Amino acid sequence: MELKNKKILIIIGGGIAAYKSLDLIRLLKKNGSEIKTILTKSGKEFVTPLSLTTLTRSKTYENIFDQDAEAEIDHIALSRWADIIIVMPTTANFMSKLTIGKAEDLATTVLLASDKNVLLVPAMNVRMWLHKATQANLKVLQDFGYLFIGPEKGEMACGEFGEGKMSSPRQIFSYLKNYFDKKDIVKKKNLKALVTTGPTREYLDPVRYISNESSGKQGYEIAVALNKLGIKTTVIAGPSNYKTPKDIKVKKVTSADEMMLNVKESLPVDLAVCAAAVADFKPILKKNKKIKKDEIESNSIMLKKNNDILEFLSKNNKSRPRIVAGFAAETDNLTKNSLSKIKNKHCDFIFANDVSKKNIGFNSDYNKVTMIDKKGNIKHFPKNKKSFIANKIAQILLDRLLDDRNFN
Ligand code: PMT
Repeated sequence: MELKNKKILIIIGGGIAAYKSLDLIRLLKKNGSEIKTILTKSGKEFVTPLSLTTLTRSKTYENIFDQDAEAEIDHIALSRWADIIIVMPTTANFMSKLTIGKAEDLATTVLLASDKNVLLVPAMNVRMWLHKATQANLKVLQDFGYLFIGPEKGEMACGEFGEGKMSSPRQIFSYLKNYFDKKDIVKKKNLKALVTTGPTREYLDPVRYISNESSGKQGYEIAVALNKLGIKTTVIAGPSNYKTPKDIKVKKVTSADEMMLNVKESLPVDLAVCAAAVADFKPILKKNKKIKKDEIESNSIMLKKNNDILEFLSKNNKSRPRIVAGFAAETDNLTKNSLSKIKNKHCDFIFANDVSKKNIGFNSDYNKVTMIDKKGNIKHFPKNKKSFIANKIAQILLDRLLDDRNFN
């Protein structure tokens, strides 16, 4: 009973691979899951409601305007009921509907109204899959947070060979098992994380300060992604106009010293991500009144170094988070500089981004990141939405945490 009591809503799309949903349902039922199904109009060309109802021992939902079905459980309640929603097969047409947020039938309406994780299982002709339109839709849907399994390479029903074959019921089952196992561990362990984000302001006098262009977006997106994985996350954020995401605990700070204080107060946590662009220096003296032009001799301001929060967390023997990750904002020698940062600051990961370009990094919706771990493994994440990169980072950090032998 590997998936006992897991509630799974399966939407059956219109493709020849739809018949495989019957095998998946049998496998899931054998392993203790509860299943409800929505059969789309085109899915009905391949699978009958009777076979679905027989296997699930539950009503097959088909029509949004079906009085009886709505009386029993309405489309909002269907989504609320589910622990996860699966769309199999996900056709190219269905992907394009989700991309533009259509709500034209029961399946698309449920998905638009849902805040649950949705696993899309694409199956289509290889050329349809590789078409620029489908690939563009894929990017949008990944950015919306849809999960994907497949498609696999292989021989397709149309006789062609290539990428487009639907993942097998066994593969989907393993994916679900892994997904729920992780969720259960995170819940059992009551995992906690902290994320620093945004700039800091180091005031010279009441109206002038040293700061930088950070918007806080990348760090907030990481917090949202960690939260979605079930990890209770606190954000310690420097001043920015970025709208605070709901469901996330945020402590607003101004200076690096305040950020450090709030980080210390938020310990212990299992995971720390330092995405903040902390000012490296602060003025030695902060004047209480606005500095007059002739007050500063030879135009100089005396500065001293701020304490390093990332380094503090990494070297903190008493309550070191199991995983400490930093960012590196670089304009040149990205990998070399990041390798020395990981070594000097003793953190487990550095996510390095190039901040010399206008369309990524600081104050942009996009980023391009090179991940380096303390063993020197390097992985590149090509340019993508910060939310997409945040989901990848959150997943990697959680996996590393769960892999930690001392942890389990
Ligand atoms: O906020 P956005 O507009 O979304 O932009 C995102 C970002 C580009 C700011 C972000 O992705 C990023 O790169 N953040 C780190 C910026 C930075 O300060 O880099 P750094 O190379 O100077 O510092 C290295 C690491 O040490 C960082 O994890 C930083 O948080 C940490 N640090 C630095 C100084 C200090 N006193 N305390 C620290 O914790």
